Amino acid sequence: MSKAEEQKLIRGIYDEIDDNSPDDNSVTQQDDSYMIRCENLVKIYKTDEVEVVALQGLDLDVKRGELMAIVGNSGSGKSTLLNMLGGLDKPSAGSLLVDGKNLLKFTDKDYMQYKRDTVGFVWQNNARNLVPYLSAVQNVELPMLLKGKKQRRARALELLEKVGLSHRKNSRLDQMSGGEQQRVAIAIALANDPKLLLADEPTGSVDTKTSNMILDIFKDLNQTERLTIVIVTHDIKLSKRIDRVVAIRDGRTSSEIIRKKSYAQELDELGELAGDISETHEELVVLDRSGRLQLPKDYMEQLGIKGGDKVKVELDEESGKMFLFRSGE
Ligand SMILES: Nc1ncnc2c1ncn2[C@@H]1O[C@H](COP(=O)(O)OP(=O)(O)OP(=O)(O)O)[C@@H](O)[C@H]1O
Ligand SMILES: [Mg+2]
Repeated sequence: MSKAEEQKLIRGIYDEIDDNSPDDNSVTQQDDSYMIRCENLVKIYKTDEVEVVALQGLDLDVKRGELMAIVGNSGSGKSTLLNMLGGLDKPSAGSLLVDGKNLLKFTDKDYMQYKRDTVGFVWQNNARNLVPYLSAVQNVELPMLLKGKKQRRARALELLEKVGLSHRKNSRLDQMSGGEQQRVAIAIALANDPKLLLADEPTGSVDTKTSNMILDIFKDLNQTERLTIVIVTHDIKLSKRIDRVVAIRDGRTSSEIIRKKSYAQELDELGELAGDISETHEELVVLDRSGRLQLPKDYMEQLGIKGGDKVKVELDEESGKMFLFRSGE
């Protein structure tokens, strides 16, 4: 696809989005309470044969010091979004501010500094940031070495302690279990004191016990260091333990689930976690900035409607409710 064709495709997406939101909603306005402000984000991947619109005008705001999760079907754009947030890839259009920095205006050098100083990344397949023949502590020291940081050993040991691995500090990575390696990967991601930690399926290949332990580490880091954390997960058990869960569908934010009570409060009351996610969380459909909403797929199926259909909307002012009908009913 040529540059001109790409611009045309992006314009098409924006025509569809028809962004008539007022200026004061724009994320280009600075607000220091947000770590992430993402508006109308578009990412198009092009290969010789196909072009995939992986993000089609996605909106997402994350406050500083928040720990939240992103869920969604395979191919919905979760990793694409995380890669944009992590500065591993460049958005095609839209606006994206992280820590007050406008990533769409970044030069290659800005990206390099951003990856070194602002974000830490944890992947499902941690082979990407681990060196198998080095010990745990050497692995954690490595990013600090590249940055020329002082007192590397002391900081590496402190981080290994945070992830509960002090006793394995001198073990070679290839002599550790998958869950232990994942915890080393978290320590590595923290080595340069990032402000934002991004984790793509961090518990994808570990058992429930290890998965809980990893989330406990994230929660502790979030609370003690006020680290902002975004976790992409398929793990429903894990998402039940997170207060804010945003679902994305077809490259857009489709719904948001917010805990009715904080997890800590609930544990106090229940003693343990049990039951269906709807008992603990309230699912909300998100309006985009122009007031459009994406209906849950199963509701549409039940009503027998599909995308492109016309439906009737009625407002009952008295009850403050809105009703949706198949046309003709
Ligand atoms: N580098 C790439 N080149 C071309 N297409 C890509 C590339 N990366 C992702 N895509 C496409 O973009 C869409 C979104 O992919 P993405 O990896 O973000 O999904 P995901 O939600 O992370 O899925 P999963 O849960 O399976 O990891 C998919 O259709 C995918 O095929
Ligand atoms: Mg993915």
